[in-house]
Amino acid sequence: MRPTVSVAVKDRIFMTTQRKILVTSALPYANGPIHLGHLVEYIQTDIWARFQRLQGHTCYYVCADDAHGTPIMLRARQDGIAPEELIATVHKEHEADFADFQIGFDNYHSTHSDENRACANEIYLKLRDAGHIATRTISQSYDPEAEMFLPDRFIKGTCPKCGAEDQYGDNCEVCGSTYAPTELIHPVSVISGATPVEKDSEQYFFKLSDFTDMLQQWLRQGHVQPEIANKLDEWFEEGLQDWDISRNAPYWGFEIPDAPGKYFYVWLDAPIGYMASFKNLSDRTGISFDEYWHSETDTELYHFIGKDIARFHTLFWPAVLHGAGFRTPTAVYCHGFLTVNGQKMSKSRGTYVKARTYLDNLDAEYLRYYYAAKLSSGVDDIDLNLDDFMQRVNSDIVGKVVNIASRCAGFINKRFDNRLSASLPDSRLYQELVDAGASIAKAFESREYSKAVREIMALADKSNVYIDDNKPWVLIKQEGKEADTQAICTQGINLFRVLMIYLKPILPRTAEKSEQFLNNELHWHTLSEPLLDHTINKFKPLMTRIEKTQIETMIEQSTEHLEQNNKSTSATEPLVDDPIAEQIQFDDFTRLDLRIVKIIKAEHVEGADKLLQLTLDLGGETRCVFAGIKSAYAPEMLEGRLTVMVANLAPRKMRFGVSEGMVLAAGPGGENLFILSPDDGAQPGMRVK
Ligand code: MSP
Ligand code: ZN
Repeated sequence: MRPTVSVAVKDRIFMTTQRKILVTSALPYANGPIHLGHLVEYIQTDIWARFQRLQGHTCYYVCADDAHGTPIMLRARQDGIAPEELIATVHKEHEADFADFQIGFDNYHSTHSDENRACANEIYLKLRDAGHIATRTISQSYDPEAEMFLPDRFIKGTCPKCGAEDQYGDNCEVCGSTYAPTELIHPVSVISGATPVEKDSEQYFFKLSDFTDMLQQWLRQGHVQPEIANKLDEWFEEGLQDWDISRNAPYWGFEIPDAPGKYFYVWLDAPIGYMASFKNLSDRTGISFDEYWHSETDTELYHFIGKDIARFHTLFWPAVLHGAGFRTPTAVYCHGFLTVNGQKMSKSRGTYVKARTYLDNLDAEYLRYYYAAKLSSGVDDIDLNLDDFMQRVNSDIVGKVVNIASRCAGFINKRFDNRLSASLPDSRLYQELVDAGASIAKAFESREYSKAVREIMALADKSNVYIDDNKPWVLIKQEGKEADTQAICTQGINLFRVLMIYLKPILPRTAEKSEQFLNNELHWHTLSEPLLDHTINKFKPLMTRIEKTQIETMIEQSTEHLEQNNKSTSATEPLVDDPIAEQIQFDDFTRLDLRIVKIIKAEHVEGADKLLQLTLDLGGETRCVFAGIKSAYAPEMLEGRLTVMVANLAPRKMRFGVSEGMVLAAGPGGENLFILSPDDGAQPGMRVK
């Protein structure tokens, strides 16, 4: 049972017993950068965790990189690096992004860790010993050239229903139908271009249906949102199917302890990563692991996730936990997806914005505030409308909240030697703000942040009205009104303080600066103790307005023009996730600097099984390029030849050195790879137009 939360009860906030909470956000995949979509979740969770701590509860917030699976294995191969190196690099980037968005994890770990291996093995063995694992031989698509089994997303072909070409192996983006990859017409492996064949192998299954009753009961106890419960009912009606938790080598993950050559499917060990991250924290700090993972009576466990991964968290995960003798989650909280300006994030529109690109241009707290102002407890998508974003942040935070402090602080700093008066001139107004705390707390607790923000801004409006009505800037000029001016400013600053306590979970950095200015720590339990007869510090601007150019620059930097589209589109490496190319403008084309080059040297690269190192002459200038063409060319076939390169591609750091451009080749890959050559007469350095 969930402990009852008494935050809603006015004046009894401080009597709430201290809760012990563990909260998680979904683990981001270790093959790509954090973007503004992910941040919906991390900001939502972080606000909740900070709110709990502000209330005086114990709340640990842990997360990790999700570092296993086929896409990560292939991405590392493509970059010519070991998966360990890829995940280490991405881990650093993710950590820096989260830190700069003030996401206050108590621990950020990795699923590729000793703790996770130990937890995954333990859970698997317990499930096996309790009879919840079955083995069966099944037939799956296999790439005979790459010599590996293919996940559905790595097979493309013509949709069996509508005939649309180039559709993924599990569903058609044109007509929306779902099917098995074997039903595709002319299927090809996206890895090698080969036609997949069917191949038998033995797999390990988790018998989810053993947990039908347990799950149905768990569901009825209100651990998930109503929308999700409805969805789950549909799955129950279809009947719970056994879940394949194993994958054949080659796979990037943990080998199953009693099954050499078989690996845990990434989605088995990913949620176990929550546990492993906490284990790592508890080993370092002495916090009790068992208290949070074995007992349901004293502690609470919450998972914040996106709606796309609900099934893993509300069916498989509780069943796995229960089957292995662990506690189940107190609740799984699902949120919707981010759209930008009403549409799916898009690289060509510049609305697929990476966390880092945002941070290069804008303050993290703007986004934290905007998301808070939009988030509710439901699973609806949320829209980042960039005009509204600017307008809202500027008018609410800068124009309303910060303004209260800046209108009052100067007088206290300069005229009253930083000293606040000994009493409040309008204690009823102050009390009104304090009383609103119960309802604001309830809104935070129930993840109705937009409601909390609405209430806080209504209080900010009232506070501004108070200052407008009392006009300290007029009063100060009147004789004998010093004490009144000081009192009015004291009132204003105390109103500001209450608002900042409420906003602290959303704006931790601004709250910190306010604490410095107020010379006072902001805690919920000190709401009803105004700062009186108290010395404050000099006021420094807390937040500046967003300028339109900041947003424009961010969008420009996020707009993927052809020449930056180098992540996975080296023509010499097969595409893993190749979207249908969008139509481009002539300008886009002219941004590409294609040059005729002469290959003056071609060499093997020690330790790389796909790459050749090419030394290219651009008509005077020399470049070093690593090209994934070893499967089709011996070095001696290349030396002296002319070919075509993308000369203005940003240099890319690879394990073996920096690649300063890209040579063009066509074909599915393997032996079938063909570099381009110009007709006789072309000279190195000529531009291709
Ligand atoms: N690795 C899995 C989660 C494993 S949890 C045991 C995964 N990773 S993810 O990087 O794709 O997504 C991480 C979280 O961010 C997920 O909860 C996902 O729903 C969320 N979001 C990813 N893109 C998003 C949007 N565009 N909008 C809102 N949330 C988004 O899934
Ligand atoms: Zn179709």
